[in-house]
Amino acid sequence: MAKDLTKQPETDTDNGTQVLEEGIHHVNNPVLDLPEIVKNYLGPVAGYHQENNNYYFNDGSASVEIKVVSDEIIRVRLAPRGQFLEDFSYAVPQSDQHVAVYNFEEDQQAYRVKTNTVTCVINKADFLVSFADREGNEYNRDFAPMHWEENPDFGGYYVYCTKLALANEAFYGLGDKPTHLNLRGKRFVNWNSDTYSFQFHQDPLYRSIPFYIGLHEGDAYGIFFDNTFKTYFDFAAEAHDQTSFWSEGGELQYYYIHGPHMMDVVKRYHTLTGTHYLPPLWALGFHQCRWSYYPESKVKDLARNFRERKIPCDAIYLDIDYMDGYRCFTWNKRYFPDPKKMIKELADDGFRTVVIIDPGIKVDENYWVFREGKKNRYFCRRGDDYFMEGYVWPGRCQFPDFTNVEVREWWGGLFKGLVEAGVAGVWNDMNEPAVFGRGTFPNDVRHNFDGYRGSHRKAHNVYGMQMVRATYDGLKKLFQNKRPFTITRAAYAGTQRYASVWTGDNVATWEHLRLGALQLQRLSTSGMPFCGTDIGGFSGEPDAELFTRWIQFGVFSPFMRAHSAGDTAEREPWSFGEEYEALNRKFIELRYKLLPYIYSVFWEHTRYGFPILRPIAMIEQRLDGNIQREEEFCFGDKILVSPVLHPGQQNKMVYLPVGEWYDYWNDSLLEGGQEHDVDTPIDKMPIFIKAGTVLPEYPVMQYVSEKKIDSLKLVIYHTVREANSYLYEDHGDTFAYEQQIYLEKKFVVKGTSDSLSINQYVDGLYSEKYDTYDLQLVALPFKVRQVRVDDTAVLVESDATGRYTVKVSKDFRSIQITG
Ligand code: GLC
Repeated sequence: MAKDLTKQPETDTDNGTQVLEEGIHHVNNPVLDLPEIVKNYLGPVAGYHQENNNYYFNDGSASVEIKVVSDEIIRVRLAPRGQFLEDFSYAVPQSDQHVAVYNFEEDQQAYRVKTNTVTCVINKADFLVSFADREGNEYNRDFAPMHWEENPDFGGYYVYCTKLALANEAFYGLGDKPTHLNLRGKRFVNWNSDTYSFQFHQDPLYRSIPFYIGLHEGDAYGIFFDNTFKTYFDFAAEAHDQTSFWSEGGELQYYYIHGPHMMDVVKRYHTLTGTHYLPPLWALGFHQCRWSYYPESKVKDLARNFRERKIPCDAIYLDIDYMDGYRCFTWNKRYFPDPKKMIKELADDGFRTVVIIDPGIKVDENYWVFREGKKNRYFCRRGDDYFMEGYVWPGRCQFPDFTNVEVREWWGGLFKGLVEAGVAGVWNDMNEPAVFGRGTFPNDVRHNFDGYRGSHRKAHNVYGMQMVRATYDGLKKLFQNKRPFTITRAAYAGTQRYASVWTGDNVATWEHLRLGALQLQRLSTSGMPFCGTDIGGFSGEPDAELFTRWIQFGVFSPFMRAHSAGDTAEREPWSFGEEYEALNRKFIELRYKLLPYIYSVFWEHTRYGFPILRPIAMIEQRLDGNIQREEEFCFGDKILVSPVLHPGQQNKMVYLPVGEWYDYWNDSLLEGGQEHDVDTPIDKMPIFIKAGTVLPEYPVMQYVSEKKIDSLKLVIYHTVREANSYLYEDHGDTFAYEQQIYLEKKFVVKGTSDSLSINQYVDGLYSEKYDTYDLQLVALPFKVRQVRVDDTAVLVESDATGRYTVKVSKDFRSIQITG
């Protein structure tokens, strides 16, 4: 029977579906039902004017600001009606930098803003913006003029920028996206989300870092879209020749960051958003966590096991059960009758105690934190002024508005009791913010936004960042000159100034181990250097092999913490039998041996903005795209690792970047620029040291500073070239380094086939506590005849492994070794 096309279907107004005659529910065709999308594009440039570093171009009504931030960084902003928003950013504390020289030129076709490094071209006819280097090589250009759309939901605009995506251009960055390193062909959204047991390619996750790096034919640039609303990125997914980013509100404001090296892009991104402060040295040790260790006897038992079994560990975590009914800043006195005493006893045994804090404050008139927050109206409110309420661990909760400076100060002060009890670090969780059932806050929740008031649409992605900022600032005050340790789950660009991050609730599978290797590299190149995964996987249960392989990867995770959900079998380094306990011990010990190197790499980050983990694509960006081994990475610039990611894997092809590398396990020399078949029995993970490296090594300690170091070991790897290595030393836990109280040592190693020289240059005001170095000379291709230290001959010995050892003064300037 033919259908009567004139008969209108009934409409079910509740859920927006239509009931067709046959009773089939059919979702409305969005194209037919939505109002026409009207996008406004910039028209031809009508004029310009200049104010200081800022150039303003207009098309008669809309205005574009081009700001010279530095020689390598240009900021672009769009004001659809000519009115810019207040210049305020949580990511970029201050954008006024000193620019030496810049120039402005105009010809018939275009305007050009030129720094010493970058030329920004604004085309007159179509308002397309492009960026080139001084020689005129173009790095990035608009595909379409910047555009916007009246926002039908709440006024304001959706703002869009569409760039040309070149053939073979690769894209990196964007925070914690759990996918392949190259983002090309994919589309993403940034909206901080609590994503328990997330999966490969799932999006969005916990963090919003709207910063990416484009790499084409070996040249890299960065784009940082500083917009806290829900943002979207499309890397040549919808259209093969376009990369777009857009937002559901706020301003189209982005920074173009010049390369050409990816490393420079990341460093320059850090000049905008800041680096991670130098963590206390103990925070670089091994951390043991579980949901949850309680009561006190359990915690003590855990600590005793670590020490008796001689497995190094610096931190033990207390998850939510230490609290009284999950009320933040309280103790469950039944489980922990005397927290101060317990924490002191743990500290005497070398353990720091880290406690969890959540943003949800239980609605309870008998609870002082709730009463204070309520009295001062510190909690978030809905559009109709009722308090925002939602259910989290404690039941019904209200939530501080951390975007209010007064609230942040209050929150920071709440840690007084915990700090007096001896707590050394704070773990900030559930701060996307997560709310059971509904996911997060509704959009109408109001936020102070440091005076630039707005709804949750604007504040959602910075809520967690502002929470951990409040925590960090509070702890910093309470600790006085000691460095706090903080960790957060949610983040926005710039959060590295306040906290480390972990990747959230992962799963105990081999796939997640691999994902971790990708996520940590991505976080590192996105400005979040101090990052780690839940070693072993949070949900599910790893077998012995997976756990050990994860510990191995953990040695080279900037943040090394084992964690597991409460409904899984207990999971400590000794939980899988003696054979695996020995393996886990061996690798945790390796972490402790490498601590002076790891600390020095961290310094390079804090001081200069270098990422800690560096993907191969970053090291060999000119070799473009032929590197398939995306799970391999360098930790600092001297150590390359290739984690083992498959069960039963006995060997693995490892690509070594151009240069010479030593196999860490047997000192054999391997040529880079090619792949090598490497053995990977369970007691080995492929680790390679760059030729010419001076690798400082601590003796195995059960916790940081357990032992006084009388003589520091320096392992020196021969090279036939010249190489520099750096060693950074300071108190390990104070902020004195900000007053130059540190030592930065540079070792210059030069070698030939029958000689090696090492020169030391020392800078800084700290005095190290040891007098000598124990040099170990690795893989000398000649028999040593003579060693002269500052022109005096000294004795060397060779050990069973073929390494030569020699003790020298820590103040040596020059060592000559000849064969
Ligand atoms: C969240 C965290 C997890 C923690 C748990 C209980 O799921 O991601 O790490 O153990 O809450 O606090």
